[in-house]
Amino acid sequence: MHIFGPLSSRWTAYLGLLSALSAAFAPAVAVKEHDFKKCHQSGFCARNRAFADHALASDTWQSPYNILPESGSFKDGQYQAVILKTINDGGETVRLPITVSFLESGTARVTVDEEKRQKGEIELRHDSKARKERYNEAEQWVIVGGTTLDKAAKVDYEDKTQLTVKYGPSSKFEATIKFSPFSIDFKRDGNTQIKLNDRGLLNIEHWRPKIEKPEPEKKEGESTEENKAEETKVEEPKGEDESTWWEETFGGNTDTKPRGPESVALDISFVGYEHVYGIPSHASSLSLKQTRGGDGNYQEPYRMYNADVFEYILDSPMTLYGSIPFMQAHRRDSSVGVFWLNAAETWVDITKGKDSKNPLALGAKSKTSTHTHWISESGLLDVFVFLGPTPKDLTAKYGELTGTTAMPQEFALGYHQCRWNYVSDEDVRDVDRKMDKFKMPYDVIWLDIEYTDEKKYFTWDKHSFTDPIGTGKQLESHGRKLVTIIDPHIKNVDNYPVVAELKSKDLAVKNKEGSIFEGWCWPGSSHWIDAFSPAAREWWASLFKYDAFKGTMENTWIWNDMNEPSVFNGPETTMPKDNLHYGNWEHRDVHNLNGMTFQNATYHALVSRKPGELRRPFVLTRAFFAGSQRVGAMWTGDNQAAWDHLQASIPMVLSQGIAGFPFAGADVGGFFGNPEKELLTRWYQAGAFYPFFRGHAHIDARRREPYLAGEPYSTIIAAALRLRYSLLPSWYTAFRHAHLEGTPIIKPMFYTHPSEEAGFAIDDQFFVGNTGLLAKPVTEKEKFTVDIWIPDSEVYYDYFTYDVIPTAKGKTVTVDAPMEKIPLLMRGGHIFARRDIPRRSSALMKWDDYTLVVTIPRDGKRAEGDLYVDDGDSYDYQRGQYIHRRFVFDGAGKSLASVDADGREPGSVQEGEWMQKVRSVGVGKIVVVGAPTAWAGKKTVKVESEGKVWEAKLEFTPAAQGRAAFAVVKKVGARIGADWKVDFS
Ligand code: NOJ
Repeated sequence: MHIFGPLSSRWTAYLGLLSALSAAFAPAVAVKEHDFKKCHQSGFCARNRAFADHALASDTWQSPYNILPESGSFKDGQYQAVILKTINDGGETVRLPITVSFLESGTARVTVDEEKRQKGEIELRHDSKARKERYNEAEQWVIVGGTTLDKAAKVDYEDKTQLTVKYGPSSKFEATIKFSPFSIDFKRDGNTQIKLNDRGLLNIEHWRPKIEKPEPEKKEGESTEENKAEETKVEEPKGEDESTWWEETFGGNTDTKPRGPESVALDISFVGYEHVYGIPSHASSLSLKQTRGGDGNYQEPYRMYNADVFEYILDSPMTLYGSIPFMQAHRRDSSVGVFWLNAAETWVDITKGKDSKNPLALGAKSKTSTHTHWISESGLLDVFVFLGPTPKDLTAKYGELTGTTAMPQEFALGYHQCRWNYVSDEDVRDVDRKMDKFKMPYDVIWLDIEYTDEKKYFTWDKHSFTDPIGTGKQLESHGRKLVTIIDPHIKNVDNYPVVAELKSKDLAVKNKEGSIFEGWCWPGSSHWIDAFSPAAREWWASLFKYDAFKGTMENTWIWNDMNEPSVFNGPETTMPKDNLHYGNWEHRDVHNLNGMTFQNATYHALVSRKPGELRRPFVLTRAFFAGSQRVGAMWTGDNQAAWDHLQASIPMVLSQGIAGFPFAGADVGGFFGNPEKELLTRWYQAGAFYPFFRGHAHIDARRREPYLAGEPYSTIIAAALRLRYSLLPSWYTAFRHAHLEGTPIIKPMFYTHPSEEAGFAIDDQFFVGNTGLLAKPVTEKEKFTVDIWIPDSEVYYDYFTYDVIPTAKGKTVTVDAPMEKIPLLMRGGHIFARRDIPRRSSALMKWDDYTLVVTIPRDGKRAEGDLYVDDGDSYDYQRGQYIHRRFVFDGAGKSLASVDADGREPGSVQEGEWMQKVRSVGVGKIVVVGAPTAWAGKKTVKVESEGKVWEAKLEFTPAAQGRAAFAVVKKVGARIGADWKVDFS
C-alpha cells in the first residue's frame, strides 16, 4: 500500500498547503466506502426503497397509476395515453403522458413524462434558473439509430382494461398494456418475459409546491438536526418521508434541490430468469448479485453515479467511474434485456425468487425470476425493452440504438506504456530505447498530468519537456505514438489564455446562481468546460490544432481523465447537483452523461486537427455512459497492485463488453502500490487479453517498466507482449465485428454458449472474438495450474503445445500454468490469423505476411474463421478499402479456401493506395492443428489462386503423447486479399 496515496497530491492541490501537512492528512482521509452515499443517504433512493418495502409488505397494495382509457390512441406503431397518478385520498390526480413505441428492430420503448413539468407549470425555489422540464435530451446524446417505428405493429386485442399489441419480427413479440393499475407484460412466442410495474413500484415523484411550515420550537439541549428530524416525523403524510424533498446535505455539501422531489422508479421483472448481467461499472461479479441482503448478497443496490472512487473496494455494488444502464437477463436459450435511458444518479435493486409476493402460489416446477427496481433521481422514465432471444441479438439491438464501438486506430490494440509520470523528454526517449533493447514490443507511451506547465493543459513543462516534437519524432521512427492527458478542469489562473477564453466566451459549467462554477482539482482552483455546449465543443476543437497545441504532431493522441467530473471539494468528489449546464439543465439531470460529452468533444477535436487530415481519433476516457463506445476506449480506473484487483479486472472487462463498450482494460500492474514480480508478470499475461492493454502506475509507485522486472520475469512479460502482437490480426478482426454487430471482443461463457447453464456465472475465462481461443489468465499467487470449464463437446488444443485437452462437455479440466505460461486453449473448428515475426510495434508489422491457424474439429468436417484488415488509421474502409476474408476448411473436400467474406467480386473495388500496397502481403504459413493422419506421407499441397496453380511444401508431424498431429504449409504464396484454395487431397 502506498502511504501518501493520491490524496497527498489532491490535498496539496486542494488546500494549497505544505506537503508535510498533506501527508499528515492522507492516511486519515483515504477515501473509502463511507465517502460515497449509501442508499439511505441518497434521499430519493431511500424514499423509493421505503416505497417498495411498503408495497411489497402489503397484501392490499395497489399501484396508484392508472391509464385513462379514453386518452389512449394507437397509430403507426405508437401508443399514446395519459397515466393518472392518484396522489391523495381525495382522488386528486397528476397527469403523466406515456408513449409506448414499437420499433422496427423489435425493440419497444416506454416513455413517461409529467405534464406539469413538461409545460413549465411549476415554480422553482431559490430563484433557480434551472429548466423546469424533466430532462429530455439524453436521447440526443445517446441514441443514434434504430428508432424507426414499426408500422406493422398492430393492436391485436383491446377492451376497457387493456390493449395488446403484436410487433417485431414475424409479430412474435407482444405487449399487453394493462390500464388499472398500469403495467406492461412483454411476451415472446406467447410467453411472458418481462413485466413492468408488475409489483407496483412505479413511482414518479410529481411536482408539488413546498408548503412552508412554521419553524419548530427548538427544544433545549437538542441540535437543529434533531429538531428537523422531529419536524419530519410529525409532518410525514401517510408515511412519506419529506425530509429529503427540498434539501439534502452529505459530507458538508448541501444540495438546494430547486425543483423538489422528482425521482422516477419502476420495477422490472424478468420472468423465469435467474441471471442478470450488465449495468457496469462495478467491481462485482459478471452475473449480478441480489442487493437486499441475505447470504452472499449485497445490502445496497447497484449504484450508477459516475464518481472518482479511487482505491475502490472490491465485490461491491458501489458506483465507479462510468455507467451503462443496460441490463441483460439470461436463462437457458433465452436472453432479454432493458436499457434505462436516464443520466441522473441511478440505483438498481435486484432480488431473485420464485415469486416475491406469494411463494405458495407457484408449483414445484416454478422457475426463479429476477426482480429489479430501477430508481433515478430525475428526468424522464424512458426504458427500452429487448426480447432477444439470444445474447447476440441483445448486443446487436442495443448497438443499433446507442452505436457500436468505433473502428479503432490499429495501434491502439497494441501495448501502451504509461505511468504517472514520465518526467521529461529524456525519460520518454529512454523508456522507448529500453523497450527496444529488451525486445519488448509496444506502440504508445503516455504522459500524465506532470508534463504540463503547472497543470495548465495544452502547455508543456518548460524545463522537462523542451522538445516534445523531437520526442514525437523518435517515437514515430518506429511507428509509435504519444498520448498526452487533457482533463476537463481548466486552471483558474492569470496569464493562461485557455482559461481566459473559457471565461470570456462563457463556455464553462455554471453554479446554481448562474455564475461560473469554481472548484478544486489537480491545478487547484479550476473551472470546467461545459461540453454540452456546441460553442464550447467548437472552441475545444480549436485548442487541438497542431499550431495551437504546440508540441503535438500526427502521432499524438489524447487521454481524458477526471471527467466524471472529479471535483476534489465537491459532494462525493464531483459537481454540486444544482450546478447548471448548457440549456440550463441541472447537473443532477446530466451527471452520468458528463464524461461522455467531454470525450466526445475531444474526439471531434481530433478529427478536425488539420484540414484534410481525416483519421480515426484515439481518446481514452475514465467516465462514460451508454454511447461512449462510439468515441474511444475506457479503463477501469484506479485499481491496486493486488491479486484480488487482478481477479476483479476480468469480470469488469467482460461486463463492459456485454454492455456495448468492449474497448476496455484495467491498469496492468495495478495503479496504487508496488506489485511483486509474480503479480506484475501474471498481470501482463492477463492484460495481453484485455481489449485495451496498458500498464500504468501511480506517481508514488516504484518504476516498473516491464524490462525492470528482471529475469525470468522480463522474458516472460516480453513473451506475453509478443503473443499479443502476434494475435493483433485476430484482435483487429474482433474489433471489426464489435464495430459492425455490437458484439463483445472478449466473450463470457453465457454469451458464446447460451444453452449451458453451468457456464452462466463463470466470469474468469473467455473467448477472444470468434477465434475459438479460450483464455483463463492466472490471477492467484503461486498458482501454477488453472481449472478451465469446457462448454461443449468440441476438441480443445493447448495453444502452445497442441496437446489435446482431455475433457468433455461441461467438465472442468486442470491445465498446467507454470509462470511462463498463459492458459490458452484453441477450440476445434476455427481458423484465425496471426503474424509471427516479432517486431517493435504494430506499425512495423503492417506489411508482414500472415500465418493462418486451422484447428480441426472433433468430427474433422469443417473449420471456419475470418480476417479483417484495413489501413488501421483512416476512414477509407468506409469506401470499401479493406480486406475481409472468410476461410473455410472442408474436411470432406480436403481443402482450405479463402473467399471474400462480404461477397465482393474480385476487382469490384477501385484500389486506393493502401489496397495496392497490401497486394504485397501474403499468406506465409498455414498451421493445421489436429491434421488428419492421412496426411502423414504428404510432402506438398496444391495452391490455386488468381488463375495460377503451384505447389507448396507440407510438413506433417504425427500425434505423440497427448499432442495432436499437426501440419504446416510453408510459403503458401497466395495474396491475403485474393481468393485462393489449398488442396490437401
Ligand atoms: C486519476 C487517474 O485515474 C490516474 O490514472 C491518473 O494517473 C491520475 N488521475 C493523474 O492524472
